[in-house]
Amino acid sequence: MPFKTPGANSIYIRSVLPPERDDNILRILEYADKNIIPVLLPETAAFLRQMVYIKQPKKILEIGTAIGYSSHVILGACKGHLYTIEAEESSYKKANEFFEASGYKDRVTAYLGDANEIIPLFSGEFDFIFMDGPKTRYIQYLPYLKRMLAIDGILLCDNVLFNGMVSGETEMIKKKATIVNALDIFIRAVSQDDDFMTSVLPVGDGVSLSIRRH
Ligand SMILES: C[S@@+](CC[C@H](N)C(=O)[O-])C[C@H]1O[C@@H](n2cnc3c(N)ncnc32)[C@H](O)[C@@H]1O
Repeated sequence: MPFKTPGANSIYIRSVLPPERDDNILRILEYADKNIIPVLLPETAAFLRQMVYIKQPKKILEIGTAIGYSSHVILGACKGHLYTIEAEESSYKKANEFFEASGYKDRVTAYLGDANEIIPLFSGEFDFIFMDGPKTRYIQYLPYLKRMLAIDGILLCDNVLFNGMVSGETEMIKKKATIVNALDIFIRAVSQDDDFMTSVLPVGDGVSLSIRRH
């Protein structure tokens, strides 16, 4: 997805973040850059890392592995096991190569396929879910994710403000209307669901952070 030119806040926030020092992550970022693979923005990666570090989840679900950048951020911040889903075979294969190279293979179960089909097959509880897959499907996945999330578990979703188009900060591109409308419905649903405590935060492309209530 082409990102709008970062504003002064984003430029400033990125300028104060410490440089990435993990060689495995640097190799992934270099590959993503060369091959134009969309991955988390630096400030979103920092936020994800913090949330995982605070929560120390034992069982994590990720929707949208791509080549494994956010997976590495998650795995580096906790000792839990990551279940991650990717629909594109080439990305899935590359992610597996990176998991192998970084020694994370034993802590990752990677699925190749459509999250629509894989999510309903899971049983058992996750204590952290990171959603960064197909944006039009967030709302469809929500009831499943709610059932799968442990009490006090965290659901973190990326790109919910979608280049500012969801809030109207940026003019909506007509061909993105379906995504924008679906994300608007998702944000309202997750924010107003009494089983969650949710904040929508303008971090990177916008994240929603929901905690499953007692
Ligand atoms: C924004 S990228 C994920 C980036 C990754 N989380 C990171 O930061 O390193 C979204 C990914 O979701 C995958 N995707 C899209 N639709 C999907 C679906 N229905 N099921 C599983 N994965 C899907 C895409 O192929 C893409 O790799």
